[in-house]
Amino acid sequence: MKDKAGPACGVVLMTGTSSGIGLASAVAAAGAGFTVVATLRDPGRADALRTAASEAGVELDVRRLDITDEASIAGTVAEVLAAYGRLDAVVNNAGVGSVGTLELLSMEQIRAAFEVNFFGTIAVTQAALPHLRASRGRLVTVGSAYGVAGQPFNEPYCASKGATEVYLESLAPVAAEVGVRVSVIEPGPVSSSFVANIPVDRPAMLAGAGDYGPAFRNYLQHVPRMIASAVQTPQEVAAIVLDVLTDPAPPFRVQTSPFSEDFVAGKLADTDGAAVVSTARTWLGATHAE
Ligand SMILES: NC(=O)c1ccc[n+]([C@@H]2O[C@H](COP(=O)([O-])OP(=O)(O)OC[C@H]3O[C@@H](n4cnc5c(N)ncnc54)[C@H](OP(=O)(O)O)[C@@H]3O)[C@@H](O)[C@H]2O)c1
Repeated sequence: MKDKAGPACGVVLMTGTSSGIGLASAVAAAGAGFTVVATLRDPGRADALRTAASEAGVELDVRRLDITDEASIAGTVAEVLAAYGRLDAVVNNAGVGSVGTLELLSMEQIRAAFEVNFFGTIAVTQAALPHLRASRGRLVTVGSAYGVAGQPFNEPYCASKGATEVYLESLAPVAAEVGVRVSVIEPGPVSSSFVANIPVDRPAMLAGAGDYGPAFRNYLQHVPRMIASAVQTPQEVAAIVLDVLTDPAPPFRVQTSPFSEDFVAGKLADTDGAAVVSTARTWLGATHAE
């Protein structure tokens, strides 16, 4: 898969390619010579993907895959094997955001984040692994810097991304024994429709936030200011996805920007948890980090 110049790059299946990082990664990988099976849960929403592919002059094999539906996963993986006889890489990109805190969310909302970000990603990985083993291929998962360091009012998102990352970190040495390389990409903020797609009415949640109201309001005001200068485009993240797909020896954990590198480094050095928690408290209105 090292040669970016031709079809020798192999067959890669990507999830969540209707928009954002998935769309950009599908187009970038096809442009680099991969045969890209670009999957999305609703084929009726493939217009942006098809337009981007056509503008880039690349071909994509667009197929349906809902990562929360095991029959859909098994069916699509079987179709790929029938069509190409091999699978060289998977990019687990599909994901959903969340906003709120424990007392403002239902268990259904909390489970929904895990259903996509954790169980969906792991189910795709499980279905693909025999074929990645056969090709001595690789697994690339779009995690998040926020799956490394927990963020206030983002508990289900951070926890589901964090659980996925630790699962894959546990799997990585085992997979390496059977020839499969495992990597997690850790973007910071990205200018996709990800945040807008979160199915939460923020004004209504804020109005009903009770004791959490002042902290939630501060959080909603602080975060856009904090990330404004750090936002990457989906194309910038897609370039990193492509690097990891083609790197002969990719690292397990890959940050996509100086922001995400600092963010992750801060967490990994914070052995007692004091820095992450006290810094986040200042965003919520505490006057200084304790
Ligand atoms: N945007 C950020 O700031 C940011 C930061 C760090 C990490 N990330 C991660 O980057 C990845 C891509 O996000 P993005 O920023 O590109 O946002 P996005 O444009 O909203 O893309 C998310 C994709 O996931 C798909 N998806 C959701 N549920 C699915 C399911 N059950 N089955 C299959 N596909 C499903 C969506 O499909 P539909 O169109 O059908 O909803 C969409 O294509 C996510 O894993 C996210 O956690 C994003």
